[in-house]
Amino acid sequence: MKIEALRVKNFKAFKEIKLTNLPAISVFIGANGTGKTTLFDVFGFLRDALQDNVRVALQKRGGFKEVVTRGENGAIEIEIKFRDHDEHSRGPLVTYALVIALDKNQPVIEREILKYRRGERGKSWHFLDFKLGKGIAITNESSYADKESKEEREEQTVDSPDILALKGLGQFQRFKAANSFRKLIESWHVSDFHIGDARPSQETGYAEHLSTRGENMALVAQFMYEHHRSVFNDILIKMAQRVPGVANVEATDTEDGRILLRFQDGSFKDPFIARYVSDGTIKMFAYLLLLHDPNPHPLLCVEEPENQLYPSLFCGLVEEFRDYADKGGQVMISTHSPDVLNYINLNEIFCLSKKNGITVIERASDNPLLAALIRENDLPGALWKQGLFMGLNP
Ligand SMILES: Nc1ncnc2c1ncn2[C@@H]1O[C@H](COP(=O)(O)OP(=O)(O)OP(=O)(O)O)[C@@H](O)[C@H]1O
Ligand SMILES: [Mg+2]
Repeated sequence: MKIEALRVKNFKAFKEIKLTNLPAISVFIGANGTGKTTLFDVFGFLRDALQDNVRVALQKRGGFKEVVTRGENGAIEIEIKFRDHDEHSRGPLVTYALVIALDKNQPVIEREILKYRRGERGKSWHFLDFKLGKGIAITNESSYADKESKEEREEQTVDSPDILALKGLGQFQRFKAANSFRKLIESWHVSDFHIGDARPSQETGYAEHLSTRGENMALVAQFMYEHHRSVFNDILIKMAQRVPGVANVEATDTEDGRILLRFQDGSFKDPFIARYVSDGTIKMFAYLLLLHDPNPHPLLCVEEPENQLYPSLFCGLVEEFRDYADKGGQVMISTHSPDVLNYINLNEIFCLSKKNGITVIERASDNPLLAALIRENDLPGALWKQGLFMGLNP
């Protein structure tokens, strides 16, 4: 499944933003405070709302009045267009739209819709259409392909007007579109490694997936070593390929059942154990664990992957992100590094800037000058350094 478009209104610094034709990898650049993290948090917000309800998701962010764009008193709106796809077929473009407003000082879901069309022009079917906790859901979604069939609707209510219908109905297998969208949002992941946390420290417990800040890295490595040995071995080989100076990485069992990672520095005969290798080495290892997760996140957001890494590693890291996207994942990256940008295509780059406190997002490939320079073999990072990315240098 891939998200193709996103429209957000009145969410923090986003008075109104629109992203269309999103590629499998998109990279967001912009000065501090222009809204890169806010963009990722749109998905985090939806995930929190699914896990609990919109009131709790808002509270986690300071409440409705803190979240709604300053100076605005309208509703918060989020609209996502996505499509199921595999190598053989492309599903219909599905729209999920959510409108959250205040009613007697309480946040409520004013409207929640999930819809798609039969064919390019057909009438769109509202698979879910809810207002203030009440609405309809289509129950014969499986006959959608049959153009003669009539939709069958079912009236539904949710327990309170701050609960997403997607949460209740998405659990039933028969609501296919709702179900797969719910899964995409539930397994959304943001990676924001903090090397201090990710250093091998948490060594007891159990973890299958790397956490946002990476503090369970040693546990995930242990899991991969025990349950996915061939993937784990591939990661070790890639470490040696990707990190200059690391000639070999070995994993050995310790007596107490943990694994010990030994990094062989090309120049020294004795290997270093993971605890004592460099920050960059640990970070690369953590990314490789994340990107080789046997149960990958359909949508992965990565904050500033360049931190702690020497620029010569960026090319390999971006290749790893591309492999992940080629296998069906979608990746969104924020970066402050022109060197990272050199490995990214112009139509994958989105520039964030602020006008009067409000975020503006522009696609780099929409700028004719940049497009012309790239055609002449200039590199995006070099052009960014020269101040040619619009919005960034008002
Ligand atoms: N309700 C709101 N209305 C308007 N602006 C808001 C609102 N809430 C937060 N902001 C602003 O949004 C910005 C948050 O930006 P964000 O953290 O997304 O930036 P960023 O691009 O990730 O920056 P960095 O590069 O420093 O990580 C801040 O400038 C903050 O003041
Ligand atoms: Mg940020």
